[in-house]
Amino acid sequence: MPVDDRTFRKALGCFPTGVTVVTTVDDEGTPAGVTVSAFSSLSLDPPKVLFCLGRHTTSLDAFRSGPVSVSVLAEGQQDLSIRFASRGIDKFGGLEMVQSADGVPVPKDSLARMDCEVEQVVESGDHLIIICHVKDLVFQTGGQPLVYFRGTYNIIGGCQP
Ligand SMILES: Cc1cc2nc3c(=O)[nH]c(=O)nc-3n(C[C@H](O)[C@H](O)[C@H](O)COP(=O)(O)O)c2cc1C
Repeated sequence: MPVDDRTFRKALGCFPTGVTVVTTVDDEGTPAGVTVSAFSSLSLDPPKVLFCLGRHTTSLDAFRSGPVSVSVLAEGQQDLSIRFASRGIDKFGGLEMVQSADGVPVPKDSLARMDCEVEQVVESGDHLIIICHVKDLVFQTGGQPLVYFRGTYNIIGGCQP
């Protein structure tokens, strides 16, 4: 039996994930940001992470090359997740951000942030796998993560120092 889209989504929703906001800035200085749960560590040495972006992502081209920052959201940052998952809005308008060393705007008070260079883009199905080399990072030794499970936000557990 072929796997239908709705059932597949429901099954995937049983896998709890953290929530990240991935941001970048293009050559003209225009920022872009997307809420991403399809994030994973890839390599410790050298340090690499990956995330997956749908081909439909409006700002896809901005993420194919330039510097990117991955911010792991903390509990209480659900509004940021909703904002960066919304289409057709000014995602950065009125938002207090800080800048990475590469000039990428990043949200304040995330649990962790990895500043990266895009190393490789692999196209597969309706998504692109963006493989990144981690150049710098900051993280909190306490705090609780924002968790996404079965289509809703949850708060569970905490980060160990
Ligand atoms: C909790 C959550 C997780 C998401 N994870 C992903 C993801 O891993 N990859 C992806 O392409 N879109 C993901 N999305 C959807 C994008 O954030 C959304 O389509 C976004 O608006 C696309 O950016 P755009 O406005 O540039 O098109 C997620 C949305 C939510 C609410």
